[in-house]
Amino acid sequence: MTSSLPDQLRTPRLTLRAPRPGDAPHLFAAYTQDSVVARYMTWRPQTLLSQTAAFIDYCIQGWSAGRSRPYLLVPHDNDDVPVGMLDARLQAHTIDIGYVLQRSRWGEGLMPEAIIAFSDMALALPEYFRVQATCDTENQASARTLEKSGFLREGRLERHTVLPNLSPEPRASYMYARCR
Ligand SMILES: CC(C)(COP(=O)(O)OP(=O)(O)OC[C@H]1O[C@@H](n2cnc3c(N)ncnc32)[C@H](O)[C@@H]1OP(=O)(O)O)[C@@H](O)C(=O)NCCC(=O)NCCS
Repeated sequence: MTSSLPDQLRTPRLTLRAPRPGDAPHLFAAYTQDSVVARYMTWRPQTLLSQTAAFIDYCIQGWSAGRSRPYLLVPHDNDDVPVGMLDARLQAHTIDIGYVLQRSRWGEGLMPEAIIAFSDMALALPEYFRVQATCDTENQASARTLEKSGFLREGRLERHTVLPNLSPEPRASYMYARCR
């Protein structure tokens, strides 16, 4: 699928850019081994740098194949050291986002800043009408992040997602979206 999403996006404090192989050690140090960060994610905390390197490879492949745009979030003063990711999974007319930030940067409003900039940009493109995200019904920081980003809660999806750090059974999610 071709997409006119840009390769980079600048917000007041962040650049959203493509992942590259050299990012793996930084991401491993930043958050992929952090069990608190991973709590509501669909992956388990990583214990080996090679796991994060394989994930970065998968992201680079997804970007090349046009499947997704897994933007890394880097501060303007250090392009080499990502602090998080905003993954944009591309569907016809819709973009489904997922996001994560290293723990030491929580509470600064960085993720709403990235989500607002990304969804403003995406909804100004002719091919996209909807940016959506789901979050676990107990992930209050994520729900609040989406509400601060102008997303509306559309409903509750029962038995929607397995979060392996919490339960082997699928749990309920909220569906949020911004549309034009
Ligand atoms: C969710 C996440 C991306 C938020 O990013 P952030 O840049 O820290 O977001 P903000 O700085 O806007 O802070 C989050 C908001 O949630 C609120 N919040 C945080 N924890 C909360 C809790 N336990 N209960 C209620 N509100 C909470 C904060 O007070 C803040 O709202 P406020 O500005 O009105 O005070 C970050 O916490 C994170 O990476 N979490 C782990 C990964 C994750 O869960 N990703 C989402 C998967 S769906």
